[in-house]
Amino acid sequence: MQVINPPIKLLIVDDLTENLTALDAILRAPDRLILQAKSGLDALELLLSNDFALAIIDVEMPEMNGFQLAELMRGTEKTRHIPIVFVTAAGNELNYAFKGYGAGAVDFLYKPLDINAVKSKANVFVELYRHRIAFEQQVVALEASRREQDFLLAQLQNTQEELEHSLKMREEFMSLVAHEMRTPLNTLFLELQVRQVQLAKDNLTAFTPEKLHTMLGRGERQLKSMLRLIEDMLDVSRIQNGKLSIRPAKTHLSALISRIAEDLTPLAGESGTTFKLDIEANVYGYWDEFRIEQIIINLMTNAIRYGCGKPVRVLMKQENDEAIISVTDQGIGIAQHEQDKIFEAFERGTGSEVKAGLGLGLYISKKLAEAHAGQLSVISQKNLGSTFTLRLPINSEVPA
Ligand SMILES: Nc1ncnc2c1ncn2[C@@H]1O[C@H](COP(=O)(O)OP(=O)(O)OP(=O)(O)O)[C@@H](O)[C@H]1O
Ligand SMILES: [Mg+2]
Repeated sequence: MQVINPPIKLLIVDDLTENLTALDAILRAPDRLILQAKSGLDALELLLSNDFALAIIDVEMPEMNGFQLAELMRGTEKTRHIPIVFVTAAGNELNYAFKGYGAGAVDFLYKPLDINAVKSKANVFVELYRHRIAFEQQVVALEASRREQDFLLAQLQNTQEELEHSLKMREEFMSLVAHEMRTPLNTLFLELQVRQVQLAKDNLTAFTPEKLHTMLGRGERQLKSMLRLIEDMLDVSRIQNGKLSIRPAKTHLSALISRIAEDLTPLAGESGTTFKLDIEANVYGYWDEFRIEQIIINLMTNAIRYGCGKPVRVLMKQENDEAIISVTDQGIGIAQHEQDKIFEAFERGTGSEVKAGLGLGLYISKKLAEAHAGQLSVISQKNLGSTFTLRLPINSEVPA
């Protein structure tokens, strides 16, 4: 990157215009800007509003002489470090010593001015100034790159923490899945073995229609729960790969919710839960019915699982262009600090006696709601219960 530097400023102070003109002519160069002052006061004004590489000051001036001006310059932070070259008559006894001599670069030029001496002195100070500016720019650049490094380091640490967290979650998840699959598979396997022994012994009383019915029902439930688990895992990987697709069609939401409640009534009954439904009739929208069903089933099975056997209220109404579905239980509730986390993949509640599932249901449900341009949120109080609310825009047309 090419840095375009502003011109370097030099200040010349003399009460005589012809001296100023002469100095100006000697010092002039394309990358320099020479500013002139005819008195100490004029000079101070310029000094306060400009940044100079050098001030060349005539010593003998009326009102404020060169040394007095220099003393004022040394007393002010902004001008303290500006190098000064005094111009004085040759052979002049410098009987008034400049008090601020020790405070910065000071040099002398004698009249009549030797053009080469003026030029070379000015060049030295201009070079010094240039180096100082370059150095300051390097310090600024260095500081910026240090800050950038700190930022990148923090990002790296964050990523590492996230990675470690997700690895840990994955490990826990794997052992959980293995466990969740092994239990029903073991039961099925055991059942099959028992039946085989009974068959081998020609014990046909074990195969009455009633017993077969129970056996098949149990097997089907176990297979279904394993299939659901696999479907959930596939959904998570679809979501994470951006491959979740929604196929909207006209959906009769009122009928859908009533049917789901009916389907889940036996499961609710097992934990002593009943449903209280308040469903507005004839609410329609354009959604992927299968996916909406999945969300509502997740919310309702959670309400059964974490609802302590108390009644679960399911409300659905249309408000303007939205369908609002809420599922309220009076169960274990969710602590404030966990209310965001439960919508993340593999996050399961802690500190409760109730056996949680794999922690996928709400993550999938939230993503499905968002894929419909809807929202899923929770309001809950520990030990008092939870309300999960799903808001879905009523699309009047199927999106392309
Ligand atoms: N109605 C609720 N009341 C109290 N806690 C809940 C409720 N619904 C969800 N949670 C908490 O949120 C966690 C995440 O819920 P989510 O449905 O995602 O997973 P899960 O029920 O544990 O397992 P999965 O749904 O995958 O079988 C649960 O483990 C539970 O701790
Ligand atoms: Mg769940």
